[in-house]
Amino acid sequence: MVFDFRSIRAVPSIDPCVIVILGASGDLTHRKLIPALYEMNRRGAIDPRTQVLGVSRRAKTNEEFREDLARDARKALGAEFEEAAWRALADRIHYIAGDAATAEAWPAVVSAIHTLDAKAGTGGNILFYLSVAPDLYEPIIGQIDAADLVTEGKRWCSIDPAKRSWQRVVIEKPFGHDLDSARALNRALGRVFEEEAVYRIDHYLGKEVVQNLLAFRFANAIFEPVWNANFVDHVQITASETLGVGSRTAFYDQTGAIRDMVQSHLLQVMAFVAMDPPSSWTPTMINAEKRKIVESIQVPSAARAAQAVALGQYAAGEIAGVAEGAYHELPGVAAGSTMETFAALRFTFDNWRWGGTPFYVRTGKRMATKRTEVVIQFKEPPANLFRSMNKAPIQADRMIIQIAPGESFSLRFNSKVPGASFALRPVEMVMDYRKEFGNDSVEAYGPLLVDAMRGDQTLYKTREETEDAWRAVMPFIGAASEPLRAGIHGNYAPGSWGPQAADDLLAREGRSWHNGA
Ligand code: BG6
Repeated sequence: MVFDFRSIRAVPSIDPCVIVILGASGDLTHRKLIPALYEMNRRGAIDPRTQVLGVSRRAKTNEEFREDLARDARKALGAEFEEAAWRALADRIHYIAGDAATAEAWPAVVSAIHTLDAKAGTGGNILFYLSVAPDLYEPIIGQIDAADLVTEGKRWCSIDPAKRSWQRVVIEKPFGHDLDSARALNRALGRVFEEEAVYRIDHYLGKEVVQNLLAFRFANAIFEPVWNANFVDHVQITASETLGVGSRTAFYDQTGAIRDMVQSHLLQVMAFVAMDPPSSWTPTMINAEKRKIVESIQVPSAARAAQAVALGQYAAGEIAGVAEGAYHELPGVAAGSTMETFAALRFTFDNWRWGGTPFYVRTGKRMATKRTEVVIQFKEPPANLFRSMNKAPIQADRMIIQIAPGESFSLRFNSKVPGASFALRPVEMVMDYRKEFGNDSVEAYGPLLVDAMRGDQTLYKTREETEDAWRAVMPFIGAASEPLRAGIHGNYAPGSWGPQAADDLLAREGRSWHNGA
């Protein structure tokens, strides 16, 4: 089935361009970016003139690069991979070896970009994709500037729109290491690119169910009236994984669960759940509402932070026969490292809609199951008319928005059990994506890349929002958070739901995590 992404939103058409992937030998390029481009190309969502130029330190020919990518794309796409469709993209993939953080690499890169542009007719449009270690972002941005490749907004622009070219940059997460470094990175980007040309990517915003949160909330009249502190007792957002840190220890031991997952993915999901309706479906209005909600997160003082967090590190053990050592003993992890592989946080908002309603967010590696979900726990009915006929207390209504595995919205509510008495039992109503729409979900990166090519920042993060998201997690990371990390080594077993402290965080307030099926 061919998807025409242009039919989904009224946006400018997709221009041809040269996509320059910096960090082309990396895992992200192989497992996500190229398979996503393949899917988009096959669906006709990318201009057929568009070219891909990979840049990485390893010496490789174009052919070797294509073969490496084909091997991994086959793995990632399974039955979706078709030789002819792959060829249609692979012939447009090229490679240059070089260290993009140094000046020496750039003459060859610049010349390759110009040659591809002239041959394919990509109109001078360039999409840089920074898929490198975060400490290389700033040096590479500096080199892009020095290579004089960014002309948009800097030089005379043709008044004929057909002759205008653009240069945009997609930048991965983690965006900085903390608030100060994120600010510095934003300044570095701002020296080279206009804000309209900066695409801070978060692949969670490319997920169908995450986007559907907005449709669900703002295309229906029945949910919004109860979507507030008057009716919602609390919200839980879980992203649990069974995989460990694997070969990413060097990155992960500098990063941890809060920077890797909470500051980015989970705060984005939380923003979509909690934000007010935008006044129109435009990047400016959507991002304004997202900014408002992230900005209204109450940041606890250092003294109160301990009441709002539980951190953990997995112990040695097996999950489904796969053994892994304790995190703090893995090769590549600093001796005595207190970096968290699990985090549970309690967020509250300083606003009228959510005043007093906690949002509990948790994520971790080596946990019981791979699951990403949002649980909206509604309040109990104000009175229980059925008390005399039901021994058990009435269960409050609950909505579960499942993002992975499987994609669904389900609502649990109470029903009368058929029969003479008035016995009650919770029942469930489910909207399953696969049943409703068939099995046509695409890799989240694909639509986001297409958005960057057509200049749509709706599903990208703004400068201010990124900084506000850092501000919200600052008490829980870095040196200030060391006291919160006492006893972290091996404090949760692989295959569990995290440390006891995470359960205590909710139990203190008479609540418990949704760990159910
Ligand atoms: C990435 C993190 O951004 O998201 C990984 O760096 C994590 O550590 C991954 O495993 C989870 O993504 P998803 O789409 O599988 O939920």
